[in-house]
Amino acid sequence: MFDVSERMKKLPPYLFAEIDKKRKKLIAEGKEVISFGVGDPDLPTPERIVNAVRKAVGDPSVHRYPFGKGRADFRKAIADYYKKYSSVSLDPETEICVLIGSKEGIAHFPLAFINPGDVTLVPEPGYPVYQIGTILAGGTPYFMPLKEENDFLPDFGKIPDDVLAKAKILYLNYPNNPTGACADDEFLKDAVRFCKKHNLILLYDAAYHEMYFEGKRPVSFLSIPGAKDIGIEIHSLSKTYNMTGWRIGWACGNEKLVSALATLKENIDSGTFEAIQIAGVECLTGNQEDVVEMRKIYQERRDVLIEGLKKLKFRVKIPVATFYLWLNVGGDSLAFADKLLSEAHIIVTPGIGFGPSGEGYVRFALTIDKNMIKKAIERMENVLK
Ligand SMILES: Cc1ncc(COP(=O)(O)O)c(C=O)c1O
Repeated sequence: MFDVSERMKKLPPYLFAEIDKKRKKLIAEGKEVISFGVGDPDLPTPERIVNAVRKAVGDPSVHRYPFGKGRADFRKAIADYYKKYSSVSLDPETEICVLIGSKEGIAHFPLAFINPGDVTLVPEPGYPVYQIGTILAGGTPYFMPLKEENDFLPDFGKIPDDVLAKAKILYLNYPNNPTGACADDEFLKDAVRFCKKHNLILLYDAAYHEMYFEGKRPVSFLSIPGAKDIGIEIHSLSKTYNMTGWRIGWACGNEKLVSALATLKENIDSGTFEAIQIAGVECLTGNQEDVVEMRKIYQERRDVLIEGLKKLKFRVKIPVATFYLWLNVGGDSLAFADKLLSEAHIIVTPGIGFGPSGEGYVRFALTIDKNMIKKAIERMENVLK
């Protein structure tokens, strides 16, 4: 009775479920757990944005179904943001669709383009929703390893011809979760050429676009010539403005891809609460001092963690963006994470959970303050001696 569908049975286990069980047990025992686990900002949403939603929510016109591709003022703010920061022109009417968080768009997108038997090209280690969306749509993910020796970029030349013949979507995500790597112009130009040659759609996940270090802004995929012919970029306000709970993002780029996603969404959800879209306008058009401050805080935390890990004799690859540090621990990532959790009460995510090429690594999310990071290093020193 109530047997779940075959597609549900194909879903990979939820990465954090086991870790979370252990975390709860330790907390119930009164232990202080330091968590570098889930990538969820610990800082509050900036006051100017909270105030914008407070004000917006009082207007009854926002209480109704939002419908469509999103509010015109928010889509205009998105187009202006792309123009200002990435010199990309977007038509707000046809080339932008507001999402209920970028995860929603990523998960739904394959339903609009994948038929049973189709293949998608998925980076691993990677954000699990690329493969999950593919599986739920009846497709088959083909995994492209991201290796440190290739700067965590996939090698398109290694994808077999028979896979390419069935492939329909290529997923890329830079700045990258979990490796913290960025993609440069040359790689992105190559990706656009590759997609054109093999008739692939490119879904570019830019959820971490604003989280970069040392003032080195990542390249927007849409700024690459020809990008709009083959792809869409998926963006999020979650990490930039500490708004993971608000659920707001957008898809933009190729008109046909945006329009198909919007049609699909019209049949599944009814859009993003308009008061939150109004807050989205404030996010993009208001004073960006808080974003500058956010980068400063994560960079400081990153540097404290790097210094501590170096002291513990780890070989650290310095992340250039995101709020993750992908550490090579030189062996069994599950055993390493388990040791830290049971003996030092520190949570890190074992790399294997992001795909087989993640083995040998663990991911630290920089979502705790620097004093706790220092404390974590002291505890690690005691158990790793
Ligand atoms: C690579 C990547 N893309 C997308 C998301 C989803 O973000 P949201 O749905 O909050 O916009 C995440 C969240 O952790 C992520 O790591």
